[in-house]
Amino acid sequence: MLFKDQIVPERLPRHVAVIMDGNGRWATSRGLERQAGHIEGAKTVRRITEASVEAGIRYLTLYAFSIENWNRPQDEVNALMSLLVKSLREETGLLMQHGIRLRVIGDTDSLSPDVRRELEETLRLTEANTRMDMILALSYGARWELVRAAKRMAQAVREGQLAADDITEARFGDFLCTAGIPDPDLLIRTSGELRISNFLLWQIAYSELYFTPVLWPDFTKEMFFEAIVNYQQRQRRFGKTASQVAGEGEGTAR
Ligand code: FPP
Repeated sequence: MLFKDQIVPERLPRHVAVIMDGNGRWATSRGLERQAGHIEGAKTVRRITEASVEAGIRYLTLYAFSIENWNRPQDEVNALMSLLVKSLREETGLLMQHGIRLRVIGDTDSLSPDVRRELEETLRLTEANTRMDMILALSYGARWELVRAAKRMAQAVREGQLAADDITEARFGDFLCTAGIPDPDLLIRTSGELRISNFLLWQIAYSELYFTPVLWPDFTKEMFFEAIVNYQQRQRRFGKTASQVAGEGEGTAR
């Protein structure tokens, strides 16, 4: 039976986050330039976005460009930025067709004016869409985000808008780029690397992690559905015992 048909709609992960890894290796193993891997990877972005809509995922976060990625060779950075602009232009129709709202997390001030312009246009066009939120992490780093949150909180305290004693986990979350977005239930990383790579460190405290050796350009819809089915077979305990969780009638992942 297809993994797609094994998905239990009542226990879907509300938010799936993905570390899309392996574009470079996919290309070099074929004797191609790394950029060819990113172009192929962009096709997987489209495929997995469609798969998420088909499955009924409410939030999909994609790690498209990390703060550390700025240190790659300039021509690769340029190629990734051009691909982003091209994809935004070409895929806005798809976002509208499926009711997808685009959101961005990261240090967008460091993006070039043309990338920012294209992003702002798509953000504005898709703003009222409510079926799924697609959150692109661009020039994103979790430590950067946490330091930024600390600075913004200090500023709020200084200006008398926030009392230090009122800083709770929930209030802290309001100062992150992901304010208002529920934490990921499931985090997928492709390409066999077993790392988090400075992605959503605060938000993944209780996420289920799923690693696959498949390189991002080869990642199919069925593989994505397989990750969801695997998630649904897990027991999420949030620090409680197995019998406590069973007593709550929440035996398996939400
Ligand atoms: C990791 O592969 C991937 C990236 C750094 C960029 C992700 C970009 C895309 C999937 C394409 C464009 C995105 C959008 C949203 C249109 P890697 O280069 O680190 O691969 P490697 O580890 O094999 O070198």
